[in-house]
Amino acid sequence: MSWFADLEQGPPIEVFALMKQFADDDFPQKVNLGAGAYRTDEGKPWVLPVVRTAEKALANDETLNKEYLPILGFEAFSTLSTRMLLGDDSPALKENRAFGVQCLSGTGSLRVGAEFLATKLGKTVFYYSKPTWENHRLVFLSAGFKEAREYRYWDAQKRGLDIAGFLQDLKDAPEGAVIILHACAHNPTGCDPTREQWAQIASVIKEKKLFAFFDSAYQGFASGDLDRDAWTVRYFVQEGFELFCAQSYAKNFGLYNERTGNLSVVLKSPKEIPAVKSQITLIVRGMYSNPPSHGARIVNHVLSNNELFDQWRSNIKTMSSRIIDMRKRLREELERLGAPGTWNHITEQIGMFSYTGLNAEQSQHMVKMHHVYMLSSGRISMCGLTHSNVEYVAKSIKETLTD
Ligand code: LMR
Repeated sequence: MSWFADLEQGPPIEVFALMKQFADDDFPQKVNLGAGAYRTDEGKPWVLPVVRTAEKALANDETLNKEYLPILGFEAFSTLSTRMLLGDDSPALKENRAFGVQCLSGTGSLRVGAEFLATKLGKTVFYYSKPTWENHRLVFLSAGFKEAREYRYWDAQKRGLDIAGFLQDLKDAPEGAVIILHACAHNPTGCDPTREQWAQIASVIKEKKLFAFFDSAYQGFASGDLDRDAWTVRYFVQEGFELFCAQSYAKNFGLYNERTGNLSVVLKSPKEIPAVKSQITLIVRGMYSNPPSHGARIVNHVLSNNELFDQWRSNIKTMSSRIIDMRKRLREELERLGAPGTWNHITEQIGMFSYTGLNAEQSQHMVKMHHVYMLSSGRISMCGLTHSNVEYVAKSIKETLTD
């Protein structure tokens, strides 16, 4: 007898399965447009120079040791993270009613926040955009939420936001439902609401007494400007919302495998902080006890030093400008080759990803026939494009659409 003999095989995680398939593929012109991870124009992973500088300083700091961090993490790091998100002038910071918890990247921050909402506040229903990052659903259901619902977001016909559908689905949501919102650079569509549309969204969330949970995985990546990319969260705070925001340092610091993140919590009153912190402490203690320190120390080192902070901003610009350049190049190539359809959406979308408009069959054709690895939703990571492969990718798209 075996406890495991009847266990069903689980489905693969598409983005990680693609990474493995790509690594195993020996086709010389293969291109990886799967996972959202920055690459140089030589197609190589990039450790940000400012991260190397910080790591050297930390390696030479004999006062650092390997003792446990507190359960809620490295406080100096989470304080600076929350400040970077909310801005120096934030009313929530001035009124001491916001704090951060160091968590395991964006995913861990979402998970801790979701588990708190489900188990401590009794929330059962959450909404995510259609489409969204494929992990939102699994994270929230694993955290104890009972019901996953979608709100309309992407209008495939006009290749843009379905604001009317979005607002209607919020209006139809039950009081207290948790709404996952992408702070900027929506994944996978690269299409964000305008400021006027955010104001409409906020007003329905307020009126219907919903709870906003932001996912901020790309601060700095959408516009190259940290403040501009935090506008939406800051607007909600100014409007008086209580909210959560999961911040990831995977993309903007390139700390993918260091699992560095922060859950920012904005409350109505400082009096509520001790109880909320104590309950989050129990969640973290039961989940992983306390977080790792290396990535948080790097981020803290950079955010607390003006010169390094400026260097970091310039490193972000390097990444975001290369992506913008690749958007232009891809669009130019597709138009030059006469690939069927219109391609203005490639340059209009922002952030790491582009939602090409290719359907699942066409996307799979790209992988199988052209060795261009992309998600079946039609999402491509712009970071995998380089001056040497953009023409090949454009040709592959054209052939796929005309085959
Ligand atoms: C992505 O969306 O490609 C990344 O955030 C990687 C992941 O964990 O899915």
